[in-house]
Amino acid sequence: MSPLSFSIPQRAVHWLMALFILFNLLFAESMEHVADALEDGVPPAADDLFGANLHAYVGISILALAILRLCLRFLQGVPEAPAVEPPALKIAAKITHGLLYLLFFAMPLSGIAAYYGGVEVAGFVHGGPMKLLMWILLVVHISGALVHQFYWKTEVLARMTHGVRKQV
Ligand code: HEM
Ligand code: HEM
Repeated sequence: MSPLSFSIPQRAVHWLMALFILFNLLFAESMEHVADALEDGVPPAADDLFGANLHAYVGISILALAILRLCLRFLQGVPEAPAVEPPALKIAAKITHGLLYLLFFAMPLSGIAAYYGGVEVAGFVHGGPMKLLMWILLVVHISGALVHQFYWKTEVLARMTHGVRKQV
C-alpha cells in the first residue's frame, strides 16, 4: 500500500534540495567569471573563486541528496497521484517529476565535467539548455502545486509539508 504523505526525511530532502537548486540557479555569476577568466588565460579574482567553489559544493550536495532521495523513494515509496487530477495532468506531473530527477543528476555531473575536467561543451549544455529546462520545469511544477492548493483546494501541498491523514 502506498503512503498517504511523503515521509519526514523525504519532505526534508525536497525542501533542502529546492533551496540549494534555487541558490545555484540564482547565484552562478562567479562561476561565469571564473569560466571566462580561464578561457582568457588570466587568473580569476579571489572572490570569484570563492563564489565558484560555493556553487560547486552546493551543486555536489544536490547530487548527493538526489541519490539519498532515490534511496528513500525506493525504500519508503511515495503517495499515489491525487485522485482529482485529470489523467492527462497525471501524466504531465509524472513527466515533469521524471525530468526534474534527470536534471538532479545531469546538472551536477555536467558542471563537474566543465569545472574540474575542463570539458567546454559540458559547460555550454549545463549553463544553456539544462538551465533553461530547469527553470521551465520549476515554473510548471510550482504552478501545479498552486493550482492544487487554491483552485482544486486539495491537500497535495500538505503531503509535502505537515502531512495528511487521509488519501488526497
Ligand atoms: C527547486 C525547487 C523544487 C524542486 C526541484 C522540486 C521537485 C519536486 C519533485 C521532483 C517532486 C516529486 C516528488 C518526488 O518523487 O520526490 C516534488 C513534489 C512536490 N513538490 Fe516540489 N520542487 C521544488 C519546489 C517546490 C515548491 C516551491 C513547491 C510549493 C509551492 C513544491 C511543492 C511540491 C509538492 C506539493 C509536491 C508533492 C506532489 C504530490 O504529492 O504528488 N515544490 N517536487
Ligand atoms: C543542480 C545543480 C546546479 C545548478 C542548478 C547549476 C546552475 C548553474 C547556472 C544557472 C549557471 C549559469 C549559466 C549562465 O547563466 O550562463 C551555471 C554555470 C556553471 N556551473 Fe552550475 N549548477 C549546478 C551544479 C554545478 C556543479 C556541481 C558544478 C561543478 C562542480 C557547476 C559548475 C558550473 C560551471 C563551470 C558553470 C559555468 C559554465 C560555463 O558558462 O561554461 N555547477 N550553473
